[in-house]
Amino acid sequence: MQITLETKPYATLETDALVSYLFDDADPVQGRVSEVDQAANGLLRRLAKSGELTGKSLEMTLIHAPAGLKAARLLLVGAGKRDKFDGATLRKIAGAALRYLKARSVKNIAFLVREGEVTEDAAQAIAEGALAANFETDKYKTDKKNDKSVDTVLLAGYSDKERAIGEKGLSRGRIIADAQNFTRDLVNEPSNKLTPKILAERAEAMAKEAGLAVEILDEKKIADLKMGALLSVAQGGPEPPRVMVVTYTPANPKPGAPVIGLIGKAVTFDTGGVSIKPAEGMEKMKYDMAGGATMLGVMRAVAALKPNVKVICVVPSTENVVGGAAQKPGDIQTAMSGKTIEVLNTDAEGRLILADGVTYIKQLGATHLVDAATLTGAIVVALANINVGVFGSDQPWTDKLLASAKAAGEKMWQMPMDDEYREFIKGSFADIQNIGSGKGGGSITGAWFIREFAGDSPWIHLDIAGTAWNDDAKPWLAKGPTGVALRTLINLVMSY
Ligand code: BES
Ligand code: ZN
Ligand code: ZN
Repeated sequence: MQITLETKPYATLETDALVSYLFDDADPVQGRVSEVDQAANGLLRRLAKSGELTGKSLEMTLIHAPAGLKAARLLLVGAGKRDKFDGATLRKIAGAALRYLKARSVKNIAFLVREGEVTEDAAQAIAEGALAANFETDKYKTDKKNDKSVDTVLLAGYSDKERAIGEKGLSRGRIIADAQNFTRDLVNEPSNKLTPKILAERAEAMAKEAGLAVEILDEKKIADLKMGALLSVAQGGPEPPRVMVVTYTPANPKPGAPVIGLIGKAVTFDTGGVSIKPAEGMEKMKYDMAGGATMLGVMRAVAALKPNVKVICVVPSTENVVGGAAQKPGDIQTAMSGKTIEVLNTDAEGRLILADGVTYIKQLGATHLVDAATLTGAIVVALANINVGVFGSDQPWTDKLLASAKAAGEKMWQMPMDDEYREFIKGSFADIQNIGSGKGGGSITGAWFIREFAGDSPWIHLDIAGTAWNDDAKPWLAKGPTGVALRTLINLVMSY
């Protein structure tokens, strides 16, 4: 799908559908929408008076052959209350409009930005919303009859003088949405199509294309590095593990500047191992590599956006399956750091592979860490599919991430990390154990386990188990992988 800026007057655009949005005010027909209304002989005001056009959030009003416009259709999207309107709302409006129109086989759209909102950020939000909305998870369907993707989106409402800011926003939005869809495509892959080896190949191809340094550690190198925690998970099945290392180095790095380390959990399938999961819903565990895919997507965007900070990304990847050689509850493993771990539950495998990922990224020189992982079912209990769980060891670093999330319009909620929870993972027969012995707080003990390996480095853990997968389609996004946290992390890196 192409998205480009068009400075011609919107009334003259010969498009399949002109889209704009209106607010849930006493009079929703204002500004540019009121211009359209006048050209259409007061049709919109009549619809508003009759109660059909209200501006309520994501209300869709489709008008065919609108008078006064060259467009074949006019779609008005409800933007909700004006004082709640922000970039996140605009992104959803653009996405919902695109999905509404593509379901009706519309191929070309013009999106008219409202007066007073002709900014770089608006262009970026619209590009992000439209491109993410156009992504479908039908890769493995042979019958593409229902493949109704939109071909072109024109961004309208910008004058020639405003062209430069509009173009800049579109270009940023394209980079970010393409990265998000890259991540979503990986997350959508079933485990028979995406083993750790294949994921590593795809990471390598992405890095080379983007101009990033990349190294793939195979099972031999992983053993040489003594990544015992990762290997303990991988020993359960025939697929060898991989660790992807992708690095972005800025042209003129500031001496003494932080080095950001991104670690992502990439379990290409999580059966639970010997502590096996119930059959119902197990198929979803193909998305247990979403943290890793997110970090790879962030790196893809970083390569294009070129922040002035070094970023290292480490993605440990394995399956968690059951074979004769699988580790068993009670087994004691030695992590790369030298710490010994009592594996009381083989289904708490994400923290094991992250432990070695964190140790390794610190060895590579990362000073400020963020990990992302579909780590616990408990975070779904706590925050449902609405907020990402945020855990941090250093409040200024965590605040920076929370501010980036706010700016990206992604909902994240900080969880407590009191020392008392740390007691829950004290080992009886080894240094630590991989599940808590207390009752409850499962997401927090999981976070504490990873933190043990981060040591004094400022560290953040994002539990995306509840938010990386949409069980139902949203008006602005297909069912399945969401690409959550990617925009926040890009903002975080770009803040340097
Ligand atoms: N991959 C799962 C967590 C998960 C659950 C992700 C639901 C997405 C949706 C993780 O490896 C896991 O199984 N965690 C266990 C930990 C427990 C054994 C302490 C869990 O949450 O049940
Ligand atoms: Zn598990
Ligand atoms: Zn898992």
